[in-house]
Amino acid sequence: MALTPPESYELEQSHDPLMTRDSSDHDSLTSDIDDFDPLDDHEKSYRDDASQPLQRPRRKGRWRKWLIPSRFCCILIALFFTTLFLLLSVGGFWVYTASVPSYGESPPWYPSPQGGTVSTWKDAYEKAAALVGQMTLVEKVNITTGTGWSMGMCVGNTGPVERLGFPSLCLQDGPLGLRFVDNATAWPAGITVGATWSKPLMFLRGKAHGFEAKKKGINVLLGPSMGPIGRLPAGGRNWEGFGSDPVLQGISAAQTIKGIQNVGVMATAKHFVGNEQEHFRQAWEWNTPNAISSNIDDRTLHELYAWPFAEAVRAGVASVMCSYNQVNNSYACQNSKLLNGILKDELGFQGFVMSDWVAQRSGVASALAGLDMTMPGDGLHHQDGNSLWGTELTKAVLNSSVPMQRLNDMTMRVVAAWYQTQQDSHSQWPPVSAGGGPTFSSWTNEKVGNLHPGSPDSSDTGIVNKFVPVRNTPEDGDHDALARRIATEGIVMVKNTDGFLPVSKTGSGLTSKDGYGIVKVGIFGEDAYPNPDGINNCVDRACNVGTLTMGWGSGAVELPYLSPPAFTLRRIMEEDKYNITDWADNHKPGIEQAAKEQDVCFVFISSDAGEGYLGWEDVKGDRNELYAQKGGDEMVRRVASNCEKTVVVLHTVGPTILERWIDLPGVKAVLIAHLPGQEAGQAIVDVIFGEANPSGRLPYTIAKKPEDYGPTSEVMYLPNAVVPQQNFTEGLYIDYRYFDKHDIDPRYEFGYGLSYGGFKLNSLMVHPLGSANHEALPRPDALKPPQLDTTIPSVDSALWPQGMRKLKKYIYPYIDSVSDIKHGKYPYPNGYDTPQAVSKAGGGEGGNHDLFNTAVNVRAELTNLGTMDGFCVVQLYLEFPPNIVDADGEPVDMPVRVLRNFDKIWTEGSHKRTRISMDLTRKDLSYWDVKRQTWIMPDGEFRVHLGFSSRDLPLSMPGMIVI
Ligand code: BGC
Repeated sequence: MALTPPESYELEQSHDPLMTRDSSDHDSLTSDIDDFDPLDDHEKSYRDDASQPLQRPRRKGRWRKWLIPSRFCCILIALFFTTLFLLLSVGGFWVYTASVPSYGESPPWYPSPQGGTVSTWKDAYEKAAALVGQMTLVEKVNITTGTGWSMGMCVGNTGPVERLGFPSLCLQDGPLGLRFVDNATAWPAGITVGATWSKPLMFLRGKAHGFEAKKKGINVLLGPSMGPIGRLPAGGRNWEGFGSDPVLQGISAAQTIKGIQNVGVMATAKHFVGNEQEHFRQAWEWNTPNAISSNIDDRTLHELYAWPFAEAVRAGVASVMCSYNQVNNSYACQNSKLLNGILKDELGFQGFVMSDWVAQRSGVASALAGLDMTMPGDGLHHQDGNSLWGTELTKAVLNSSVPMQRLNDMTMRVVAAWYQTQQDSHSQWPPVSAGGGPTFSSWTNEKVGNLHPGSPDSSDTGIVNKFVPVRNTPEDGDHDALARRIATEGIVMVKNTDGFLPVSKTGSGLTSKDGYGIVKVGIFGEDAYPNPDGINNCVDRACNVGTLTMGWGSGAVELPYLSPPAFTLRRIMEEDKYNITDWADNHKPGIEQAAKEQDVCFVFISSDAGEGYLGWEDVKGDRNELYAQKGGDEMVRRVASNCEKTVVVLHTVGPTILERWIDLPGVKAVLIAHLPGQEAGQAIVDVIFGEANPSGRLPYTIAKKPEDYGPTSEVMYLPNAVVPQQNFTEGLYIDYRYFDKHDIDPRYEFGYGLSYGGFKLNSLMVHPLGSANHEALPRPDALKPPQLDTTIPSVDSALWPQGMRKLKKYIYPYIDSVSDIKHGKYPYPNGYDTPQAVSKAGGGEGGNHDLFNTAVNVRAELTNLGTMDGFCVVQLYLEFPPNIVDADGEPVDMPVRVLRNFDKIWTEGSHKRTRISMDLTRKDLSYWDVKRQTWIMPDGEFRVHLGFSSRDLPLSMPGMIVI
């Protein structure tokens, strides 16, 4: 370990409450095991043991003493409470058992597939095998276990193996920028990136983000996020991902991952899977003893929720983070079907699975189910020092509850991912001895700070913040400019009556009331102005004060600066042509009169949400409603009813209902600017003044009323059981798929957005390449994963090294004594001894390689009908053949249309034509057949639609037969 021997140290006796028990006990005690009754006999007997009162010597005359009235009274009270307690316990047990539906239990999938089976990772695994082959048991455990919350500079830090030159890995949030890091870019959030629909920008943002991470010494970036997907429009973390469709989410995530890993930083696909709401996402955070169970059927899991993760794996992602919630009543981080079966076998994932922060709920069970790294290393709670792995994993291997081969695979997956991203290069990643490692501290902004602030007995200090510049460097160029471009392209113009926008910087073309040509402009709404208490005033941005640039939580960052819209508007509008009035208070009386006096009004409103460990006012992560916050809708009404030329700008985390004012004649234009990050002001003025032709498109549907999203689209705000049960009964039908199925008119559909001028598509050509099979080609033979020695080493090899310093709460891999290792029978989950057949749908990264072969090529011509150059997003939707039946003749229900590809095309104005070409893969043309357990391309006539949104599809080609 990196720690130097101390002057003195003390052993923390309470470190492991189960020190005398073997690790297999530990698991079943601390949590449910996949496929086990969480209250099985084993666990109950432990609880009974633990509650045994200490035996005290009997005293004489005790009966006489009991008859003393005060004692008698106490006994009666005690009896009353005992009876009450028993009744409540029985009632609670009844509620517990009766309230867990039999629906959707997760099937077992064992043993955990080993990494090293695909050729693209072959070299990395060979190197990993050579290195891990030299490691001792404790060194391997050290790599799989975080050192504990706040024990290193990053939000996650693994133990190093210094002897062999393997470093402590620094894991840092997140999807939007570098959390807790000085002077890094505050990028536009995922939802804004999704709204750009620009594959190159997704890649470039990932690459620049990765570059900054590398410069700060971050090995693993905790992003991108592709779950939640946005099943619930009010879900608190939807904004961290890219939009409510698996293809948009999948392509955006894959491009981001390619960008991040292009510069040698490991990306993380998170949160796998079904973490669709914040309420009850994890045990105890919401006062329920268990996390919510997202009950998802097999087909929906494949076609909707796992789809983006498959794309992430196909892009070569180095790590996947399993989520807090349960899936089909088994915690996602110990769900063998999800991790072993789907992720590692079917999707061929070669990297490592890390837990979300304290999402691990068991020791042995999670290892067997496919978890490879526990984060941040603590046990069931942050900074409790009671890791479920560390020492416990060492014990579990020594007593053979966890097979040595599993630990070898866990370690190799981490080390192989490190080699795969070339982090073994000393010139790129200098070792700590040569000045490498994190160049920042998550825990202080000072230059010098504590090296292990999470430990009560650490007083080790050093230089922790080196303030390395990363945003605008000669090596990687101007990140601020890139951030501005993404924020601009993520703005969706949904209304522009009579082409009111763009306006000119000189005011030309605008009429002025005063008759002297000076245009009076009012800027209304606090969202146009910075937070008066400082742009980074609230912890993890958990408040909606001032311009909304991002949601809150671990996905938020410190803004290095902010371009506030009101200030940028002022700077751009020529002083002698415009007369500007500021109105930063949403509620101030007199707004009507102020609006009446203006020629043009800009109204800024917002809607915020975030991660569930923090709340703002009554928004506890998930939004409570889908309307603008802070009286925004009312403000728009008051302004637009008095000001004939009102432009509304909405900063938002997701779908926000506009019905309270959208049809007011005064509302001339509406710009949905999403979450722009540091460049909020620049981005909006670029569009308002026509520096950029708006090209964002909605990455979700905006309904006319909340109910239009469907009966299962509401966040569960109150638990419906001790293990809250959320049944995803709508199946494939979320967002536009639900609107299309039920023929509901949205206000603005998925994919919608306006530009300054229109576009035309023509000359559609569809070329099916033909195929003889409904199913993909047989799975190719996998490479044989490298095999390391599986001999269990001697127990002595895991003992604490002599004289080594031990910090309180810091997580170590060592054991205290040889007698800690107890052999017993570990209650392996049902199905553990029955190896599963590998999936036909597997075989390559992301799935069977044949699934990704091109099956159809689609071409067309695009014409820019406007006068202004600009980008146009062309979207390709697929309609499956009618009346599909499966092998038993049972009907297979299909959505009306599904997005399958898109492209953002640069077009010159004035009727210039551009050719476009897009491919569809076999997987795009298939559905997941639950009975055959693979992707099936159906017979019949497909219809290809090409257009500008999910409902504006001017070109379509019926009768496409692929088989
Ligand atoms: C979040 C993760 C994040 C982690 C580390 C968790 O609360 O769910 O997305 O990466 O914290 O900050």
